[in-house]
Amino acid sequence: EDAALLEAFQARIDAEDRIEPNDRMPAAYRKTLTRQISQHAHSEIVGMLPEGNWITRAPSLRRKAALLAKVQDECGHGLYLYAAAETLGTSREELVDQLLTGKAKYSSIFNYPTLTWADIGAIGWLVDGAAIMNQIPLCRCSYGPYARAMIRVCKEESFHQRQGYEIMVTLSKGNEAQREMAQDALNRWWWPCLMMFGPPDAASQHSDQSTKWKIKRFSNDELRQKFVDATVPQAHYLGLTLPDPDLKFNEQTGHWEYGAIDWDEFKQVIAGNGPCNRDRLAARNKAHAEGAWVREAALAYAEKRHARKAA
Ligand code: 3HC
Repeated sequence: EDAALLEAFQARIDAEDRIEPNDRMPAAYRKTLTRQISQHAHSEIVGMLPEGNWITRAPSLRRKAALLAKVQDECGHGLYLYAAAETLGTSREELVDQLLTGKAKYSSIFNYPTLTWADIGAIGWLVDGAAIMNQIPLCRCSYGPYARAMIRVCKEESFHQRQGYEIMVTLSKGNEAQREMAQDALNRWWWPCLMMFGPPDAASQHSDQSTKWKIKRFSNDELRQKFVDATVPQAHYLGLTLPDPDLKFNEQTGHWEYGAIDWDEFKQVIAGNGPCNRDRLAARNKAHAEGAWVREAALAYAEKRHARKAA
């Protein structure tokens, strides 16, 4: 890459320019955005599986309708993000193949099982809550198509977070069994949600460059801290106990200090050895195979229509 391009590009970034698909950009900028946006899209699609697991077992029609709407939204988020990733030159087919063959990552959080209905509340409250923390800054990402996709995603995520939190409020104000379910879900989802934000800054491979190119506006640890500070009071309001004996409020800094995260667990999960990794990839491969006829039919129809127009 010639130094002049890198310099001119960095000057545009520093001037808060939006980079658009046809602009000249360093190959590494294109590569890291294709990586991040496509893995973000994979996260949305795989994220439909743990939640979808409870659509047929939701406790009321109202809860079922809200969960159905949320899962459909996640699919839409995946489509926006694949479309944004494609503007960088890699086809949808290639990106999806990277997921199906295990080459590409998706968010670690979706490799955990949804064991009770309370998990659906905890996912909306905590996972979508964490996703919002991470996605709001991405609305100001230097790459236009990604930033614009995030604006619509963030609007829908806030509905997801509210419906999850409302489930947790209902359970925490319910009977003993419901309160225990809510506590059990918090116990199981709390630490994996902290891991969602990525490795600690000192161990983050991409953060420096992503920050320089204004893809990342806050570091992994900064967003993790914002999430903890916002969420601990909500857990207390719910009458729940955080599964972290080291959690304590620091009057000086105004932040909640938390205990050590198990980064070995994180490494295992993103290496493919989490509780549900194999199930998630098997489900996506099955859906892809069973959906082949739809893709073929759509292609055949498009070719016929094209031929008729050309005739
Ligand atoms: N799960 C899986 N892989 C993770 C991860 C996680 N929680 N956190 C980090 N990683 C991976 C990175 O992808 C990178 O691996 P790679 O080079 O193979 O891509 C490696 O660990 C090193 O981490 P870095 O911190 O250096 O990587 P990034 O700078 O990319 O930061 C990130 C990680 C914060 C997740 C960033 O990629 C990001 O902001 N991505 C977009 C947001 C996103 O994907 N959120 C997922 C939330 S789930 C969701 O949105 C669905 C919602 O509707 C519930």
